[in-house]
Amino acid sequence: ALRRHIFVCAALTAVIQTQQTVLAAVGEDAEFSCQLLETKDVLQVTWQKISLDVETNVATYSKQFGQRVNDGFTDKFGFKYTGLQNCSIVIRNVMQQDEGCYHCLFNTYPEGSLTGTTCLQVYELHEPVVDVRESNSTEEWVVSCSATGRPAPTVTLSVSQQHLSFSQYNTVSVSNINATFTVTTTAVLSGSCKHSTQVGCAARVLSAPHREVMVMLHEVQQTSDYDNLTLIISLISVIYFLLFLVSSWIILLAAVLVVMVLISVAALHYCSKKKTRRGNFYF
Ligand SMILES: *[C@@H]1O[C@H](CO)[C@@H](O)[C@H](O)[C@H]1NC(C)=O
Ligand SMILES: *[C@@H]1O[C@H](CO)[C@@H](O)[C@H](O)[C@H]1NC(C)=O
Ligand SMILES: *[C@@H]1O[C@H](CO)[C@@H](O)[C@H](O)[C@H]1NC(C)=O
Ligand SMILES: *[C@@H]1O[C@H](CO)[C@@H](O)[C@H](O)[C@H]1NC(C)=O
Repeated sequence: ALRRHIFVCAALTAVIQTQQTVLAAVGEDAEFSCQLLETKDVLQVTWQKISLDVETNVATYSKQFGQRVNDGFTDKFGFKYTGLQNCSIVIRNVMQQDEGCYHCLFNTYPEGSLTGTTCLQVYELHEPVVDVRESNSTEEWVVSCSATGRPAPTVTLSVSQQHLSFSQYNTVSVSNINATFTVTTTAVLSGSCKHSTQVGCAARVLSAPHREVMVMLHEVQQTSDYDNLTLIISLISVIYFLLFLVSSWIILLAAVLVVMVLISVAALHYCSKKKTRRGNFYF
């Protein structure tokens, strides 16, 4: 209702062009600008912060005194562009307490002051955290995604393959002490063919850029266990194969040796018999 009211006022005094709402993430810098659309004799541009219906002068710009940021606001506010028809300020490292509305006043002669209003909305949005677990049934995965933000973020799950789908959605929102919310959405992913399936989780707050995280299903811990198992099995197989090769060589060698020994024994026997018959010993 408040914003609608401001919009109506802005429409009535459309001589000043400014943003109705500026959205900024905690820690970012926010920029406001006001432009007087009609050429007037402006003596000074004043920026005010409105809190609890009390207007406090934050900064002024005039031909005579130039840029001035009032005491107590110098860390937070700075001018970006200064002109008597067009003026902009920056609020540095925005925090939750900077949220609220700000006025820009063009003090003109002889009309008096023309006012523009911009409201700052501060949001917070952390990167979502995705967790995938294999469910009891082999064709199912339990996907859960958590995101922390202010106001409470919306958490959306997505999957890259069309024949896989989410069901049994469950969303829980927990409020944290610093006025943020941690929203966790859990759903069951079912369907076959989990290899090279990408699961996405997007977190959104107001109209701010969303934050998204992608997870490949085969990179999940459960599968890495499986991968390690396959690795171990393949290693064992290779060792067995090598052992088999080596042992078969040994068997072959042994067989060859046995055959050679048998042949030599037979030969010796035969020769010795022959030699004996001839009457002279080989040895
Ligand atoms: C007024 O300032 C804004 C941003 O500071 C700029 O984009 C715009 O071109 C300026 N307009 C004029 C008329 O100087
Ligand atoms: C998994 O099995 C346990 C008990 O064996 C049961 O309590 C649980 O509901 C099952 N979960 C699913 C997703 O089927
Ligand atoms: C607010 O609390 C949440 C959860 O405790 C934390 O992740 C976040 O960083 C906090 N935000 C700030 C600005 O301290
Ligand atoms: C699988 O093996 C890698 C090293 O080869 C190890 O870092 C990882 O923790 C293992 N995964 C599991 C689930 O044991």
